[in-house]
Amino acid sequence: MNSRPHSLTLRLALLFALLAFASLITLGVCLYRELERELIRRDDAALVTRVDQLRTFLNDSNTLDLIKSKPALFQNMLGNRESLLMIGAPGQKPLLVVNPGNLDMPTLSPVTMDHPLVLTDVQHFPGVDGVPFAALAATIDSGDLGSLQVVAGRLMTERTSVLANYRLRVYILASIAALLLALCGYLLLYRGLRPLRRLAAHAQGIGVGNLTERLDSHGAPLEVLPMIDAFNGVLDRLATGFIQLGQVSTDMAHELRTPINNLLGETQVALQQSRSVEAYQQLLASNVEELERLARMLDNMLFLARTDPASALRQRQELDAADEMERMADYFEGLAADAGISIKAHGSGVIWAEPMLLRRALANLCANAIKYGAPDSELVVSATPSSDGISLRVSNQGATIAPQHLPKLFERFYRVDESRERSAQSNGLGLSIVATIMQLHSGRYGVTSENGETCFELFFPGRVLER
Ligand SMILES: Nc1ncnc2c1ncn2[C@@H]1O[C@H](COP(=O)(O)OP(=O)(O)OP(=O)(O)O)[C@@H](O)[C@H]1O
Ligand SMILES: [Mg+2]
Repeated sequence: MNSRPHSLTLRLALLFALLAFASLITLGVCLYRELERELIRRDDAALVTRVDQLRTFLNDSNTLDLIKSKPALFQNMLGNRESLLMIGAPGQKPLLVVNPGNLDMPTLSPVTMDHPLVLTDVQHFPGVDGVPFAALAATIDSGDLGSLQVVAGRLMTERTSVLANYRLRVYILASIAALLLALCGYLLLYRGLRPLRRLAAHAQGIGVGNLTERLDSHGAPLEVLPMIDAFNGVLDRLATGFIQLGQVSTDMAHELRTPINNLLGETQVALQQSRSVEAYQQLLASNVEELERLARMLDNMLFLARTDPASALRQRQELDAADEMERMADYFEGLAADAGISIKAHGSGVIWAEPMLLRRALANLCANAIKYGAPDSELVVSATPSSDGISLRVSNQGATIAPQHLPKLFERFYRVDESRERSAQSNGLGLSIVATIMQLHSGRYGVTSENGETCFELFFPGRVLER
């Protein structure tokens, strides 16, 4: 899926504008309806008053005469093209028709004389061109002329235009307010996000050269603090990893320098003059030994660099401890016999581990025990299950390791006996591989050395605890 980056500021500003517009329009519509109702009520009341006045007014036969003789007076009285007035007896020619706007005369049932006029008596019609038309009809008792009917109506042009004006203003004002709010929202958000931009600029400046620098949370908004902490945490881990990596390459360069210088020196010396075949053979044999050691060291270094924790953990299995101990004893039997060492394996339980890594760790410990163990002694490989996992021990007899060395044994390239440094057998990587494997399994590892007995212990947590 292609997700284009979007501007949070713009989105929120638009959202503000939309919300403002929606709420202002709602408010405007409510007020509009209220105003419309009030105007209709007033108009209807005016109509009712007019008809009411006519009722009183026409009760007098003099007035009726006046109507007959001077209808123009009434026309002038009503005064505009929107009003309609008709007075007449039912079924006869009307006495008076005032209809300057030529409006259609609606048919209405009149309110009888004994009923006082009320607002609900006014009837509303769609009118002309969408302009509403209100009308009211009433019966009048006019003495000698008997019962007459009066119909008064009015086209609500003014009201319609007032309301249309009002509507337009609501729309314009809501739009302006929404635009203003969007602009204010945009500016405020842009300002509010300033700490983020400052942090980004700072983070951009952090590199390999200044890995100790940390993002400053001073003045940052509360919401950003977890991000700053997380980022600084990442920097902490990166810095640690970076230092370790630097250390490894320094160590490696140091470790490789001696054997390579040896190879180079010895070969150069040999080339200076012609030698006997035996001398060449001797040189080649010694070179092979040195190269073998280099190859083993590189192999181990690659193993340490390449082990992928995720896949190692995925491939964990429940392994039978007794089988694994037996397998180690079998594997090292020949090598141990050469050194005059006898191997004893025992134990029970289940080991929750990746088989290849577990065997590599145990093999490194057994190889050490045979390498550094005293001749004619015993090498014991054992497994002791407990409630939360299983402890594997590899112990041998030999020289006691001085306590100051013990904490450093698992470091890369660390060797107790410096004189062995150049030996083809000793690279000082075996135990650091054990440590890496145990860390991968979230296990523990340790060593004790007392009274000529050295014991390495590996603890693998059980499967249930792991989950
Ligand atoms: N069982 C042991 N008894 C006495 N010393 C030991 C024993 N195991 C390890 N050591 C000491 O710890 C050091 C580190 O051991 P480690 O296995 O890491 O390296 P190494 O055996 O020297 O070389 P390699 O990389 O070939 O394993 C050894 O050089 C040795 O001095
Ligand atoms: Mg070793």
